[in-house]
Amino acid sequence: MQFSFAAPSASTSGAWVVGALADGVLTPAALRADKAAGGILTRALKTSRFKGKPNEILEIIAPDGIKATRLLLVGLGKPQGFTAAKAEILAATVTGRLLTSGETTATFEIDLPKGAKLKAPALAAHLALGAQLRSYQFTTYRRKNLDDFKQTLKTVTIATPDGAAAKRSWASLSAVAEGVFLARNLVNEPPNILTPAEFARRAKVLTKLGVKVTVLNEADMKKLGMNALLGVGQGSEVESHVVAMEWNGTRGKTKAPIALVGKGVCFDSGGLSLKTGAGMMGMKGDMGGAAAVTGTMLALATRKARAHVVGVIGLVENMPDGKAQRPDDVVESMSGQTIEILNTDAEGRLVLADALWYTQEKYKPSAIIDLATLTGAIIAALGGEYAGLFSNNDKLSNQLTAAGTEEGEPVWRFPMGNGYDKLIKSKIADMKNIGGPFAGSITAAQFLQRFVKEGTAWAHLDIAGVAWQDGEQKPLMPTWGTGWGVRVLNRLIADNYET
Ligand code: BES
Ligand code: MN
Ligand code: ZN
Repeated sequence: MQFSFAAPSASTSGAWVVGALADGVLTPAALRADKAAGGILTRALKTSRFKGKPNEILEIIAPDGIKATRLLLVGLGKPQGFTAAKAEILAATVTGRLLTSGETTATFEIDLPKGAKLKAPALAAHLALGAQLRSYQFTTYRRKNLDDFKQTLKTVTIATPDGAAAKRSWASLSAVAEGVFLARNLVNEPPNILTPAEFARRAKVLTKLGVKVTVLNEADMKKLGMNALLGVGQGSEVESHVVAMEWNGTRGKTKAPIALVGKGVCFDSGGLSLKTGAGMMGMKGDMGGAAAVTGTMLALATRKARAHVVGVIGLVENMPDGKAQRPDDVVESMSGQTIEILNTDAEGRLVLADALWYTQEKYKPSAIIDLATLTGAIIAALGGEYAGLFSNNDKLSNQLTAAGTEEGEPVWRFPMGNGYDKLIKSKIADMKNIGGPFAGSITAAQFLQRFVKEGTAWAHLDIAGVAWQDGEQKPLMPTWGTGWGVRVLNRLIADNYET
């Protein structure tokens, strides 16, 4: 989709989108449209039940005599409560309505009256972001009925007093949207296509943006002693990889980076502790953490963030096989700690154990955030609304919570502690890879924390419930791969880790 930002024009063509406040009170732009169209909006209001509630739409085919093909009156609700997040949902809802309608262009003329806190350039850029996020499609594997999916809406103009300022604001938001799209694509790709090697190739593309990309193969990892990660992949026909992506936008000031670490299980069959048929469906998305990290690196490099960030992803396929890891095996992780494997389906933590340790040894980050579709238990607790947050650091936790709320990717913090840590004691090794029947998301986090060095601020996001969604398209999130994580991570870095 193409966006332009310009002062309101006297003759708008295509779909002309204007706002109404609560109780159907027309905004100045709506009044202008109404006048241009001979009072058609006023008349339509009288015979409709339109109340100006948030995202309510009244659509009218434009009468003769004006250039616009249709008028859309859209509800804004109360002006005081109109935030950037609301602007995104509004634009997404309208875009959803127009996307395949036959309409090719739309102009948003949303003028918020006094009382709204949002500034005009930010409003314009967030309207564009909402429209862009709604326009996402994954049609790579469709061959038939392509016409039904074909989008007609191609160009969107946002009417705004200061077009240049809005354009600047959009430049960084569009980078975020690109990162979200990459993460969605990666999650949506089927596992016969997106193997660890293919994922690594797609990460390598970030080199073009100035990201330093390093790919480890199994021989490299063997030398480093990454046996926990390698054990997960050993039943698969395809090779495991770790990819490190480093972006340093601090112009030579080589400060300790912030690290993002992602679980990239390209398919999780459960291994010998095999999942059921129903439980295995969708496990192509078990690389959602790695997708979010890669998408974030793309966003940061595209908008040239003044931050030093390293993204490390552990890419494996978890399969049953004669060579597969067994329940009862003991492996020695890169950290030197030994792990008794009691369930090969608790594989994400094994991948992360070595990815976390490698990240700390190699990059000495000041803070680490890992993202993983780690436990079914987090879905039982939070459903698809919040990601679970686990951390050893209140400041980092609060930063993530604030960033998540602002970006519409909220997180909810869980407790941690010794009582939970005890649950992963092993009879023969330093720890076992499962807790018990209770607090499964917390015992998984306790396991990860054992691979975080003393003094490093660390947070773990369990995104099993939010990385993909089986339901209907939501305003800002499509069905399946959501790209969850790119927005919260980008915001966290923008607000706290840029110079
Ligand atoms: N990838 C799964 C977690 C998951 C489940 C993600 C459902 C998304 C939807 C993870 O590897 C897993 O299998 N976890 C087990 C852990 C258990 C064996 C301790 C689980 O949650 O059942
Ligand atoms: Mn598993
Ligand atoms: Zn998994």
